[in-house]
Amino acid sequence: MRVPEDAIDAVRSEATVLVSNTYPDSGVLQTILMLKALRDVRRGELSNVKGIEPQKMSDVGSGLYLAIPYYGYSRQDKRFSKGEAISARVIAEILGDYCDGIVILDLHEPAVLEGMDVPIRCVSAMPEVAERLAKEVKPDFILSPDKGAIDRATEVANLIGCEFSYLEKTRIDAHTIEHHPKDLDVNGKIVAIVDDMISTGGTICRASDALLRQGATEVHAACTHGLFTGGAISRLANHVDGVHSTDSLPNPRAVISAAPALARGLKELMD
Ligand code: R5P
Repeated sequence: MRVPEDAIDAVRSEATVLVSNTYPDSGVLQTILMLKALRDVRRGELSNVKGIEPQKMSDVGSGLYLAIPYYGYSRQDKRFSKGEAISARVIAEILGDYCDGIVILDLHEPAVLEGMDVPIRCVSAMPEVAERLAKEVKPDFILSPDKGAIDRATEVANLIGCEFSYLEKTRIDAHTIEHHPKDLDVNGKIVAIVDDMISTGGTICRASDALLRQGATEVHAACTHGLFTGGAISRLANHVDGVHSTDSLPNPRAVISAAPALARGLKELMD
């Protein structure tokens, strides 16, 4: 990783933002090395092996920020079994050593980063998700597939001005989850399920089946992070009428820009 030579003056003369995902694992390494390279440039550490660069320039001070669209390891936010690391915290602690602030988009569980030394801003793309759904889907009903996504889904429902509810998720065994509707009246309605991420698509498919059984006419899925692992796109195609994701990760359903949300967080951090 190297800061291009023609970017060195700009990196030293203005606040600098690195936009980088900590996913896949190579993303963690690239982010660390790039932050360190940027920080060295800002501190004036420009000496190289050939000794032809100035050995030391002035330190231009703080002003190096990291914006993370998709924060890999976010779901390891607690020790699920003894002997595990709380990876979501570990990664942020490492990255925090190399910058002056971090903005993270729709972090799975923001509480895991409370009390960090480096300033953290957790931002949400739900306003942009709501805008997309209002324009393209016109839902009557927003549904959270579990209690964990209630805040995000409520925000979307409030912005669109439509009804909202959530499903209760019950784990039967390691491989079986049952969804129970909660005060749900979706008969004849267009429903959008909103979640922070879609990985295998299992959560959305099961929620959609529960909605269709109760008479929903159309079901859409919306998320910030479209991981879409293990054939998720084709699995989802059999269960929902549309999938809408931000571009926090490159994927075939990335139809919503994550940039405005990250910009809001950066502005807050820099102000
Ligand atoms: C879990 O709490 C998350 O918010 C998502 O619901 C979950 O990660 C989705 O995973 P999958 O698509 O594999 O069901």
